[in-house]
Amino acid sequence: MCGIVGGFRRDGAVVDSLVDGLRVLEYRGYDSAGVAVVDERGLTVRRKAGRLAELEGEIKDGALNGASIGIGHTRWATHGPPTDRNAHPHTDVAGRVALVHNGIIENYLELRDELTAAGVELLSDTDTEVLAHLVGRELADAGDLAEAVRRALVRVEGYYAIAVVARGAEASMVCARHGPPLCVGVTDDAAWLGSDVLAILPHTREVIFLEDGDVAELGPGSVRIVRPDGTAAERAPKTIEWDAEDAGKGGYPHYMLKEIYEQPDVLAQTAFSRLDLDRGDVAFEGDLWDDEFLSRLERVQIAACGTALHAGLVTSYMIERLAGVPVDVDYASEFRYRDPVLVPNTLALAISQSGETADTLAALRLATALGARPATICNSIGSTMVRESESSILIEAGPEIGVASTKAFVAMVVAGYMLAVRTARARGRIDADAGRTLLEELRLVRPRLESLLADDAVERVRGIAERHHDAKGFLFLGRGINYPIALEGALKLKEISYVHAEGYPAGEMKHGPIALIEPGMSTLVVAPHDDVAEKVLSNIEQVKARGGEVICVGSDPDCLAVADEALEVPHTGSWLSPVLNVVPLQLFAYFVALKKGCDIDKPRNLAKSVTVE
Ligand code: M6R
Repeated sequence: MCGIVGGFRRDGAVVDSLVDGLRVLEYRGYDSAGVAVVDERGLTVRRKAGRLAELEGEIKDGALNGASIGIGHTRWATHGPPTDRNAHPHTDVAGRVALVHNGIIENYLELRDELTAAGVELLSDTDTEVLAHLVGRELADAGDLAEAVRRALVRVEGYYAIAVVARGAEASMVCARHGPPLCVGVTDDAAWLGSDVLAILPHTREVIFLEDGDVAELGPGSVRIVRPDGTAAERAPKTIEWDAEDAGKGGYPHYMLKEIYEQPDVLAQTAFSRLDLDRGDVAFEGDLWDDEFLSRLERVQIAACGTALHAGLVTSYMIERLAGVPVDVDYASEFRYRDPVLVPNTLALAISQSGETADTLAALRLATALGARPATICNSIGSTMVRESESSILIEAGPEIGVASTKAFVAMVVAGYMLAVRTARARGRIDADAGRTLLEELRLVRPRLESLLADDAVERVRGIAERHHDAKGFLFLGRGINYPIALEGALKLKEISYVHAEGYPAGEMKHGPIALIEPGMSTLVVAPHDDVAEKVLSNIEQVKARGGEVICVGSDPDCLAVADEALEVPHTGSWLSPVLNVVPLQLFAYFVALKKGCDIDKPRNLAKSVTVE
């Protein structure tokens, strides 16, 4: 949801760094892009609708070279279409201030009216432009950019991460956050800011995650933070352990494919160092994961969005059946407006790759306000959800850049499984031997995951995807713990190939979706060899009887035998079959999108991290 970068480097080579940073952050939004730099000639802005490559074309004349200070933006449109004039940065009336923004200014109409009444001509449709004017006006009065930003933000309602530069006697760079993420890093010779740590990592591993309300003034070797009331604040940097190369494509044509292939290693990273096989238990750090809290637990309330919600659904089957604790799973966007009633001793569990999704964060905050104990399964150290949770399980999946989430899903399900085992052990539902058997299954799953990514297995999925890519529509069916896998398979296909796909519980098909079945319609059925395999077999027969084509994904031999196309998945204990079954579905979506020529890593209208409502 928009990417922001900024740099202040003594050697006067900031433009290339800004473009590099924007390239890394383009996954956050890619409707338009822009940069603003300050040098002895003043303030220069270049911005362009379209992908970053368009902006690069605009600045290749070298006119911005030599500047030391600059900010950049890659946009996911909220207010106003993706045009040149709506692209960021926006400037104030005097052309003294340039500003980039991620988020939504909720009272922008009121501020816009006020500015218009004062004779200011607004040049864009965005909510952001009002901020540039407000800062410009305050700067004329305050004379200091950080103070001007602080004063301007007092007038603002909504959510923002902003970066601002201004020309003047003392050129400076300031940023602020309330809601969307923003982090900064300084070295002796430079200072950097970014919406995501990935933009800072090429320059330093020591990163400060700003808190809501922080206004930071940055210069080479210095960061000064003030709070909304003007008092100073100190923030300790965190050391980031990943390498910048972890965020590269590593020779794969798309991030999504690379991330699919990373899944066996991700499973190991999420799980193996936390397994205590002697005790048949899981070692998590955090008060909410200890026996005392988990043995008193009365309910788990999961809130999440999209793929993370599907991981939450899988987790709910595991926690309910293994630990005997009731679990509710809500779309975060619904939870926050349904006046939920929570019982005492509820664990509010937000699940999120980014840790910044606006709806999930609001749901976590609401559940906390209602008395639940907040916790997160998350991929982003330093994210708001992690910081606002009493305890977190970091899934250690590494940076996920493809907008379609893959490896984070597998890691979330693995984390959910370990939490179910830990809770079952804390409550005495299973003994050490049973716990050990369950956890050893994780070690067995890794080679099985690898086998699904062997060349012949992948080529088989490619062949089926190419044969079906033009189907009239796609129905995904699954039962029990694999019903969320049907939802996830359909979501992946919709997101990246723009074809209609529906995920359904297989037993529900006869109550409506069966009307869709006809020749030319493809149905993907998830069919592990488990206690409901016979029922799934009947569903397959029902589809075939109506002329639909069935692609079966799973380990049940009977289901595989009757299907038109079979994607065999190694058998595993029923708890972890979702981790395996999802892989051919991810690959299927990938190859359909590839065949259709879609932009796989940057699907239209989407953004990786949805930090607005
Ligand atoms: O960062 P989060 O996990 O909170 O994101 C939630 C959803 O926006 C995300 O899973 C989205 O559905 C993905 N594009 C799915 O591939």
